[in-house]
Amino acid sequence: MFSFNMLLSVLALTLLVLSAEASTGGTPNHNYDLSGQALTDLYNTPVQKAEWMVRPLGNLPGIVGPVSHTGVRVTLPNGSKWLIHKGGNYGIDSQTVVTDARHMSSAWRTMMTKDFNGRKRVADFVKTGGATYNLLFNCHVASMRMMLQ
Ligand SMILES: *[C@@H]1O[C@H](CO)[C@@H](O)[C@H](O)[C@H]1NC(C)=O
Repeated sequence: MFSFNMLLSVLALTLLVLSAEASTGGTPNHNYDLSGQALTDLYNTPVQKAEWMVRPLGNLPGIVGPVSHTGVRVTLPNGSKWLIHKGGNYGIDSQTVVTDARHMSSAWRTMMTKDFNGRKRVADFVKTGGATYNLLFNCHVASMRMMLQ
């Protein structure tokens, strides 16, 4: 019987080994969907549920190169869903960004679900995802940290 954390670590490690990480994910909208007060409200909203999600990247040059992009999709008390993910040049102040999950392509798959029941806010996920992006602190590490917080 695998524990949640153990399974998560194994999956994350597999992804890390396989992936040299994408600098551009090909997702159309990496910008914040909200600004000002709406963004502040979103950041202060508690998270009910978080899903660890993976999206395969197309056009793989053999085994070398990025094979997947990961992020965390959160569900808020009002039922809306947001994708929190990280990538090079995704954001302005931080490379971890929040986007409306309605923009996600159908290629995204849920690997794991965790109930937070309001223990963390959206802001905690963004903070855990980290501001700086590099090979060692990439989307996989960021999304794993978000799930484990
Ligand atoms: C749900 O709450 C978020 C965060 O406050 C807000 O941005 C969003 O517009 C709300 N969605 C709906 C459908 O009410």
